[in-house]
Amino acid sequence: MSRVLVSGGCGFIGSHLVRRLVREHPDLEVVNIDLLTYAGRPENVADLADEPRYAFVHGDIANADDVARAAEGCDGIINVAAESHVDRSIMGGDEFVTTNVLGTKRLLDHARAHGLRYLQVSTDEVYGDVEAPHRSVETDPLHGSSPYAASKAAGDLLVLSYARTYGLNASITRGSNTYGPYQFPEKLIPLFTTNAFDGKELPLYGDGMQVREMLFVEDHCAAIDLVYHHGAAGEAYNVGAEHEVPNIETAHRIIELTGADPASLVRVADRPGHDRRYALDCAKLRALGWERRTDFDTGLARTVEWFRENRAWWEAITSGEAYADYSAKNYGARG
Ligand code: NAD
Ligand code: TYD
Repeated sequence: MSRVLVSGGCGFIGSHLVRRLVREHPDLEVVNIDLLTYAGRPENVADLADEPRYAFVHGDIANADDVARAAEGCDGIINVAAESHVDRSIMGGDEFVTTNVLGTKRLLDHARAHGLRYLQVSTDEVYGDVEAPHRSVETDPLHGSSPYAASKAAGDLLVLSYARTYGLNASITRGSNTYGPYQFPEKLIPLFTTNAFDGKELPLYGDGMQVREMLFVEDHCAAIDLVYHHGAAGEAYNVGAEHEVPNIETAHRIIELTGADPASLVRVADRPGHDRRYALDCAKLRALGWERRTDFDTGLARTVEWFRENRAWWEAITSGEAYADYSAKNYGARG
C-alpha cells in the first residue's frame, strides 16, 4: 500500500482527483489536506466519507506543522491547492502569494526532507497569452500576466529549482481552463450556467473574443494521475484540450443548452491585463500515453445537466452573503 497527500481535495479539480485516485488505484491511500477556504467544499467529497483508504485533514499548506501532520506515512504529494481565481487576485489579496508560493515551498521542503515524489498542478496561464498559430511548449519562458498567474509561475520555478538543486523527484502539469461538475460558480462556465438558470445576466468581459482551451475535468485528472505515476523528474507537461474556443462562443452554447434568453448576454468592462489567447502543445503528455476523451460539446452538455440537477449544491453558495459581496465587488464596478 502506498499513500499520497493531495492538497486542495475539497475544491473543484482536487475533489475529482481524490475520487479518481481512490477508484483507480486499489493499492493507494489518499490523504486530503484542505484549508476549506470559500472554494473548499467538504460536500464535494461527501461520497468518500466511509472509504477506508481516504482521510481528510483540515490544514494549511503554508503551515509546516499542518503539512507534517497530514503527510505522515506518505510516499508522495500532489499539490492541487491554490488560490485559483484571476479576478480575486486582481483585487490584491496576499493569499495568492501565501498559498501558491509559500504553500508550495512548504510542501516541497517536506518532500525534500522525506524523499517523496512531488507533483505540482499548474496552469497554462504561466505562459501568458500567445499569438496564433503558436502553441506553448513546456520550455517556453514564463510570463504570467495576472497576480494569480505570476504566483503560479513562481510556484513552478520553485519546483524546478528543487528538482535541479536537491535532485527532488518533482514534476509539473500545466492544465488549460478546466470545467465540469463541482466547479465553484464564480468561474466562467458555472457562473454563466447558474446565472442562466436563475434568469440573471451573463457578463461577458470586453469583446468576448478571448480564446481558451476548455478541458473536461476528468481528462485533466487523468493527466495528473498519469504524470504523478510516470512523469520524469524536473519536467513539466502541458495538459490542454487542443481545441480553442472564444468566450463568446462558450456563452452562446450555454444559452442554447439552458434555454436562456439571448438578451441576457451583456458586455461589461474587460478584465485588466486580460490574456487574449492560451494554446498548449500537448505532444509531450501524449507521448506518455494520455489522450483527451471528452470533447467540448459532450463535456459542456454533461456539465450543464449536472448543474441543472444539483441546484442545491450551487444555491448553498450563490445564496450566501460572501458570494453576494464578491459579486458586488467584481461586477459592480464594471457597469
Ligand atoms: P478551487 O479554487 O476550486 O479549489 C482550491 C482548493 O484549495 C479549495 O478546496 C481550497 O479550500 C484549497 N486551499 C486554498 N488554499 C489552501 C491552503 N493554503 N491550504 C490548503 N488548502 C487550500 O481550484 P481549482 O479550480 O480546483 O484548481 C485547482 C488547481 O488547479 C490550482 O492549483 C489551479 O491553479 C490549477 N488549475 C486550475 C484550472 C481551472 O481552470 N480551474 C486550470 C489549470 C490549473
Ligand atoms: P475564468 O473562468 O475566470 O478562468 P481564467 O481567468 O482562469 O481563464 O475566466 C475564463 C474566461 O472567461 C476569461 O477569459 C475571462 C472570461 N470571463 C468573462 O467574460 N466573464 C466572467 O464573468 C468571468 C468570470 C470570466
